This record gives sequence, structure tokens and C-alpha cells, in this order.
Amino acid sequence: MRRLVVSLLSIAVGLGAVAVWLGTGPETAAQEAETEGAGCIACHEKLNPGLVQQWRDSKHAKAEPKRVECQTCHGDDHTGADDAEKARTPTPKTCKKCHFKQVRQFNKGKHALAEATAHAIPMTANQPDSVQKAACLGCHSIGKKWEDGSVGKCDSCHTRHLFSAEEARQPEACETCHMGEDHSQYEMWRSSKHGVIHATDGGSGRAPVCQTCHMQEGDHEVMTGWGFLALRLPVPDEQWTADTMTIVRAIGPWGQDEAGMEERIGAIKALKLARLDQESFDETRAKMIKVCATCHSESFGREHLENADEVIRETTHVMAEAVRVIEKLYEDGILPLTADGPKHPDLLLFYDSPTEIEQELYRMFLFHRQKAFQGAIHANPDYMHWYGWGPMKSSFQRIKEMAVEYRKRYGKK
Ligand code: HEC
Ligand code: HEC
Ligand code: HEC
Ligand code: HEC
Ligand code: HEC
Ligand code: HEC
Ligand code: HEC
Ligand code: HEC
Repeated sequence: MRRLVVSLLSIAVGLGAVAVWLGTGPETAAQEAETEGAGCIACHEKLNPGLVQQWRDSKHAKAEPKRVECQTCHGDDHTGADDAEKARTPTPKTCKKCHFKQVRQFNKGKHALAEATAHAIPMTANQPDSVQKAACLGCHSIGKKWEDGSVGKCDSCHTRHLFSAEEARQPEACETCHMGEDHSQYEMWRSSKHGVIHATDGGSGRAPVCQTCHMQEGDHEVMTGWGFLALRLPVPDEQWTADTMTIVRAIGPWGQDEAGMEERIGAIKALKLARLDQESFDETRAKMIKVCATCHSESFGREHLENADEVIRETTHVMAEAVRVIEKLYEDGILPLTADGPKHPDLLLFYDSPTEIEQELYRMFLFHRQKAFQGAIHANPDYMHWYGWGPMKSSFQRIKEMAVEYRKRYGKK
């Protein structure tokens, strides 16, 4: 077999030499070989030269013994300008044929739930379609559900048509999504000691990037112990448990009546909005400490993370106290202000919250609490304190004062 390839190669080289000798040049010969069959490249090279160049630079175009061609991913039903709709849109099912491992890992992780969680929140449906498309789905499409049943957008991290592993290894591959008010992990990491060393050392690997900790050994299954909202059960003591339940109540009332409530709890579990078992937490924690231990002592890593757990306990308590202040306004009939208002504070209404005091609660929850514990985890003292814990305490103060004001203004005689 090998010998056959070699002799075919020498014939090809020979033919190339003949072509040069005849004056057609090897470039034309190579291009002819490419346009063989479907003719995708010859036409698209004129239409979208940048796109075709990226494919040419990709490992796919250089793969041996067989290149991954345009038609491998898009099929060959479309052949010209009049039938573009026949071009197949590749999904993870297409990639899976050759990258089984990555697709399977991806499916087990949190990214695969991203589109479903964005749709699970009723406030999403209240936003205009154009806003959903430009905002939520711009990021949550990483977990896009396709008609063929497969899930994910692999080009979220290794963009088309280069499909480069090296690009996906850069922390900037995560930046478009993991930034901003409620999940500023990129900014936190970037200005932490880890990010600064990464920058000053020109990415030498002396300091960890997102992928070092979250995609160990290229594992595409991303999932943390605490999760986005740092709500999980069981936690070590009664007060912490009660505080967690108070917050879960405030993200759970979307359904309102009992059936609806049950449906919500089901969604919280299925989409892993709150984490409800100890084993998976212990497992992810152990894996994480092992990463720290490649550069720090094991106890250094463990103590840092345990302190961050304590920060979660403290922020959960302050947050729960604030929720209770507003729950009391509902219990005493001060809220809702209108007959069709909610019957309980609903943290997942976000900026559609009906009153200013609940708007303050939403900011405290989604902006300040998030920064406080995420900053503590990602070793960024300033995010933890001045963007997180400090504003959280200020918010709580305002909520308490507003509650007194609301009682005066809206209380029944
Ligand atoms: C004769 C020219 C021509 C050939 C040959 C051709 N295409 Fe196209 N292709 C087009 C045009 C024109 C469009 C529409 C571009 C637009 O919408 O701006 C298109 C669109 C596409 C799209 C986007 C489809 C969509 O729904 O947006 C893909 C993918 C595609 N082509 C892949 C291929 C592949 C793979 C082949 C080879 C099997 C191929 N093309 C052959 C001209 C061609
Ligand atoms: C490894 C698979 C793969 C190969 C090989 C591939 N594509 Fe694509 N292509 C994709 C993916 C993935 C998308 C994005 C689909 C989506 O999510 O809508 C895409 C989108 C496109 C689009 C429409 C969107 C855009 O960015 O303009 C065109 C046109 C296209 N491909 C043409 C080509 C051509 C021409 C070739 C060969 C030079 C090629 N593709 C090779 C995977 C591939
Ligand atoms: C027909 C098989 C095939 C299909 C389908 C395919 N690939 Fe590949 N892919 C390959 C081969 C072969 C390589 C090169 C491996 C090498 O050089 O080590 C590769 C390499 C890659 C790499 C690593 C590139 C690097 O820089 O090292 C990524 C990322 C990748 N593919 C993503 C995708 C995605 C995403 C899809 C689906 C849209 C896809 N591939 C579809 C065969 C395929
Ligand atoms: C800039 C990108 C971006 C935009 C825009 C965005 N999200 Fe997210 N969203 C994320 C990221 C990243 C996470 C996970 C962050 C984390 O775990 O810290 C997330 C988490 C969530 C979660 C929590 C998932 C969980 O497991 O707890 C929900 C629900 C959610 N987003 C809904 C929405 C909705 C609804 C919109 C639009 C109104 C939206 N998002 C807009 C990037 C975005
Ligand atoms: C969250 C970002 C992200 C997403 C989404 C993602 N990848 Fe990757 N991918 C990476 C990173 C990071 C690497 C490099 C891993 C390493 O070598 O450490 C990688 C590497 C790869 C490789 C090369 C593996 C190797 O050993 O050379 C393939 C193939 C691949 N990814 C396929 C896929 C497929 C298929 C999908 C969609 C199901 C996908 N990736 C989605 C981040 C991502
Ligand atoms: C296209 C946007 C996008 C990109 C790029 C992206 N993510 Fe995500 N990521 C999300 C969204 C959205 C979620 C929340 C998923 C959900 O709603 O369940 C998420 C969740 C996560 C989680 C899980 C948090 C939890 O709940 O436990 C981790 C860890 C994570 N991403 C790490 C990364 C890393 C590391 C990279 C870069 C290699 C990356 N992400 C790239 C959008 C993105
Ligand atoms: C030194 C390791 C390390 C680095 C580097 C790192 N993280 Fe994390 N990250 C963690 C740990 C530890 C947790 C909390 C794990 C747990 O829940 O027990 C976490 C949590 C998260 C979460 C869940 C929500 C949260 O913030 O608590 C997301 C999303 C995330 N990281 C994304 C990123 C992104 C994106 C980057 C790069 C910009 C990054 N991380 C860099 C270690 C790291
Ligand atoms: C690839 C190596 C590497 C990994 C992995 C790593 N770090 Fe670091 N980290 C460093 C370096 C280098 C410094 C700078 C040490 C100094 O300040 O002299 C640092 C600094 C720190 C600092 C701040 C400086 C200090 O001494 O207090 C904290 C906190 C920290 N790391 C925590 C962690 C945690 C927690 C993990 C695991 C989740 C981790 N690191 C993983 C390399 C690493």
C-alpha cells in the first residue's frame, strides 16, 4: 500500500514537472485537482476569498491522506448561485464522524445546556425577537439545538473556517461571552496575578489560563461545582441551607401555583441552575485542586478555594436577608403595587422587575453578588471587594431604607 502511494506520488510529481515544462505551472495543476468534482473552491474563491483562505490554512485542508473538503461538511447538492439553499449546514453530528470524543464530552457539559437555559427563563420571551437574537442567543447559541437533534456550536471557540485548536486555547476565545456585569471572569482573570503573568510572560504557560483550569487535558465537558449562581445543596450548616432556600424560592416562583412551582424545580434540576448533590462537587473540587498543585502546594490551592466557599456563604446570607425584606413586603400586602403583579419577589425577572426596590434586588443579585464570589474564586481582590462585596452591602442598605419608605407610602391604614 505504502509503496503504491509512493509510486503514485512520483507519477504526480512527474506530471507536475511536465506541466511546468509545458508552461501551465504547478499552481494551476493543484487548483484543477481542488476543483475536481464539486467546484466549490473555484467559485467561492471569487465570492469569499477570505473564507477559502482560512480553509486553506486549516488542518482540514492539510489533512493526510485525505483533506476535509467543503463538501465533506456542506454536502454536494448545491452547485451554483441558484441553489444555495441546498448547501447543508454542518452540525456537531457532522463533526462527530471524525471527532467523536470532543462531541461526546461537549454534550455532557454545561455549554450543551446553554440555549435551553436561556429559553427556560420566562423573561426571555418578553424581549423582542431581535433583542433575543442579538443578545441572549449571541452567547447562548454555544448550546444551539439543531433539527437533527445534535447540540452545540463548535465554532464558538475555534471559529470557521480555520477550526484551530491553538485559537481555542487562548483565553480570548472565552472572552466574548465570559465578560461583563454578571460573569466578568475574563476581566477578573486578566487583572489577577495569573492574567498579568500570562501577559508579561507572553503566554509562556507559567500562569494558568481559563482552559488550564476548566478544560483540563482538552476535556470539552465544562462544569464547575458551584455553577453560575453559586447555589447548591447540601451546604455545611443550617443557616447557610436556609439562606440558599430563600434565594431558590426567589428564583423559583416563575410558575406561581403548585404545579408551576414543581415544573420550575424540575427545570432548575435538569438545567443544573442549582447543584443538588455532594459527589459531583467533591469530584470537581478534587480535580481543580490537582491543577493548582501543578504550580502551588496542594494546601495553598485548597485554602484559597475554601476561603472562596466562605465568601459564598457570606454573600448568600446578605442576599437572603435582602430577599426576606422584600418577601415581608409581599406578606404584609404592601407589594405588589398592581393587581397583576407577581406574588413573590422574582429574581429572574431581571430588569423587568416591577418596582424600584426589586430592581435594586436584581442588581444586588446579578451584578454585585456575582462579582463578589467570582472575584474571590478567580483570585481578584479588587473585583471581590470594590465591584462585589462593597456594592452588595450598599445595595442592602438602600433596600432596607426603601422598604421603610414603601411601608409609609403604600401601607394600608
Ligand atoms: C458557481 C458558483 C458556486 C459553486 C460551484 C458553489 N457555490 Fe456555494 N454558493 C454560491 C453562491 C452565489 C452562494 C450564495 C451566497 C450568498 O448568499 O451571498 C453560495 C452559498 C453557499 C453556502 C451558504 C449557504 C447558506 O445557506 O447561506 C455554502 C455553505 C456553500 N455555498 C458551499 C458550497 C459548497 C460546499 C460547494 C461545492 C459542493 C459550493 N458551495 C459550490 C456559489 C457557488
Ligand atoms: C469542517 C467543516 C467545514 C468545512 C470543511 C467547510 N465548512 Fe463552511 N461552514 C462550516 C460551519 C460549521 C459553518 C457555520 C454553520 C452555521 O452555524 O450556520 C459554515 C458556514 C459556511 C458558509 C456560510 C456562512 C459564512 O460564514 O459565510 C459558507 C459560504 C461556507 N461555509 C462555505 C464553505 C466553503 C466554500 C468551504 C470549502 C472551502 C467550506 N465551507 C468548508 C463548516 C465547514
Ligand atoms: C471527515 C473527517 C472530519 C470532519 C467531518 C471534521 N473534521 Fe476536524 N479534523 C479532521 C482531521 C483529519 C483533522 C486534522 C488532525 C490532525 O492534523 O491532527 C481535524 C482537525 C480539527 C481540529 C484541530 C485543528 C488544530 O488546530 O489542531 C479542530 C478544532 C477540528 N478539526 C474541528 C472540527 C469541527 C468543529 C468539525 C465540524 C464542523 C470538524 N472538525 C469536522 C477531520 C474532520
Ligand atoms: C455576553 C454573553 C451573554 C449574553 C448576552 C447573555 N448571556 Fe446568559 N450567560 C452567559 C454566560 C457566559 C453564562 C454562564 C456564566 C457563568 O457560569 O458564570 C450565562 C448564564 C446564564 C444563565 C444561568 C445558567 C445557569 O446554569 O445558571 C441564564 C438563565 C442566562 N444566562 C440567561 C440569559 C438570558 C435570558 C439572556 C438574554 C436576556 C442572556 N443570558 C444573555 C452569557 C451571556
Ligand atoms: C469552549 C470552547 C470550545 C468549544 C465550544 C469547542 N472546543 Fe474544541 N477545543 C477547545 C480547546 C481549548 C482545545 C484545545 C485543547 C488542548 O489541546 O488542550 C480544543 C481542541 C479541539 C480539537 C483538537 C483535539 C486535539 O487533540 O488535537 C478538536 C478536534 C475539537 N476541539 C473539536 C471540537 C468540536 C467537534 C466541538 C463542538 C462539539 C468543539 N471542539 C467545541 C475549545 C473548544
Ligand atoms: C459563545 C459564548 C461562549 C464561549 C465562547 C464560551 N462560553 Fe462558557 N458558557 C457560555 C454560556 C452561555 C454558559 C452557561 C451555560 C448555561 O446556560 O447553562 C457557559 C458556561 C460555562 C461554564 C460552566 C459554569 C457552570 O455553570 O458550572 C464554564 C466553566 C465555562 N463556560 C467556561 C468556558 C471557557 C473556559 C471558555 C473558553 C475556552 C468558554 N466557556 C467559552 C458561553 C460561552
Ligand atoms: C486557576 C484556575 C482558574 C482559572 C485560570 C480560571 N478559572 Fe474559572 N473557576 C476556577 C474555579 C476554582 C472555579 C470555581 C469552581 C467551583 O465551583 O468549585 C471557577 C469558576 C468559574 C465559572 C463558574 C462561575 C464562577 O465564576 O464561579 C466560570 C464560568 C469560569 N470559572 C470561567 C472562567 C473563564 C472564562 C476563565 C478565563 C478568563 C477562568 N474561569 C479562569 C478556576 C479558574
Ligand atoms: C500554571 C501554573 C499555575 C497554576 C495551575 C495555578 N497558579 Fe496560581 N499562581 C501562579 C503563579 C506563577 C503565581 C504568582 C506567584 C507569586 O505571586 O509570586 C500565582 C499566584 C496565585 C495567587 C495570588 C498570589 C499569591 O501568592 O497569593 C493565588 C491566590 C493563586 N495563584 C491561586 C491559585 C489557585 C487557587 C489555583 C488552582 C485553582 C492556581 N493558582 C493555579 C501559577 C499557577
